[in-house]
Amino acid sequence: MKTILVTGGAGFIGSNFIHLMIQKYVDYKIINVDTLTYAGNLENLKNIEKHENYNFIKANICDKVKIDDIFSKYSIDYVVNFAAESHVDRSIVNPEIFLITNIIGTQVLLDVAKNHWKKEPHNKYNIEYRNDVKFLHVSTDEVYGALGKTGKFVETMPLMPNSPYSASKASADLIVRAYHETFGMPINITRCSNNYGPYQFPEKLIPLMINNCLNNKSLPIYGDGLQVRDWLHVSDHCEAIDCVLHNGDNGEIYNIGGNNEKTNIEIIKLIINTVGKSEKLITYIKDRPGHDRRYAIDNSKITTQLGWKPKFSFEVGIMDTIQWYLNNNHWITNIVNGDYREYYEKIYK
Ligand code: NAD
Ligand code: TYD
Repeated sequence: MKTILVTGGAGFIGSNFIHLMIQKYVDYKIINVDTLTYAGNLENLKNIEKHENYNFIKANICDKVKIDDIFSKYSIDYVVNFAAESHVDRSIVNPEIFLITNIIGTQVLLDVAKNHWKKEPHNKYNIEYRNDVKFLHVSTDEVYGALGKTGKFVETMPLMPNSPYSASKASADLIVRAYHETFGMPINITRCSNNYGPYQFPEKLIPLMINNCLNNKSLPIYGDGLQVRDWLHVSDHCEAIDCVLHNGDNGEIYNIGGNNEKTNIEIIKLIINTVGKSEKLITYIKDRPGHDRRYAIDNSKITTQLGWKPKFSFEVGIMDTIQWYLNNNHWITNIVNGDYREYYEKIYK
């Protein structure tokens, strides 16, 4: 029996992770803490909301008193920290909230976990922890910055984030690492490439393009569309997090990726052709400032040391995903009818 505090569990990856954990570990309890920003959607968890092993608590990870109460009420064994502001374009328009949630929020979680997980008696710095606890911080390959035409990100590379989003994620990684080095906190950090799959907020490339195709709206490509992303199905990412949570060596960082490099234009044309629309919908617009040219993950550490490997080929995963959005059109239209669109459309005119 383990109790896992999942932060940001109403978002895209967090909700997929909760579905996986509830199904896979019948004796685990999941506490989902989410403040429900524009990106948090409890619809994603509708079919498990009454499950006996699942609890939702609306709370902000920056609220130390509330997070402390949650740790006191439930005996938390693991923290899996997904909660974040996650969209690069929004970080360009309004960086501040990215620093607050992604950095301060992470530090609050670390501090509260440290206080609840230490063994008594302890001294202030040489802290001994319960040996069955872990703080897993979910990070991104974007902390490494951008690659040229060749090479892949490895865990030992220096961090060179280019957007306010990736800079806030890199800062969070460093504070998690510092809690390990200074206070001996049991941690792992995972750095994954771009995810695709069900329940992704339709401001991100794949769901945005699918939705725009369905509504015969233009498909905005930033710059020349030849930027490269390394795509991984969200369920493979969630399995990798589960693997690191249970088997990752204390203090280690693991890259997660599936060797699926695609240009943005390739992705968009694939969607257009699958949905049966015309390439005339494509509109080239002004490039994103500081736009990273290429990401690619070297996943050899997690595959060789922990035995994880992705199950989805990109060809199957992307077809399943497009089909999911076609079958669940109500999910996306409920969101799109909300306030995000106007906001988004103002960004790159
Ligand atoms: P998302 O934007 O879909 O979900 C984020 C969730 O966090 C939302 O439910 C939101 O309500 C919640 N949240 C935001 N601020 C909060 C706060 N202060 N307190 C509590 N909850 C808060 O994001 P996602 O795509 O699911 O990403 C989850 C994590 O994975 C993020 O940390 C992101 O950096 C990382 N990541 C994402 C990708 C990707 O391709 N989407 C790739 C690698 C890593
Ligand atoms: P995005 O889904 O925002 O993820 P990230 O910026 O974290 O990689 O964007 C993926 C790629 O698609 C990125 O190179 C920017 C590009 N893009 C467009 O060309 N048009 C769009 O409308 C969006 C949202 C993204």
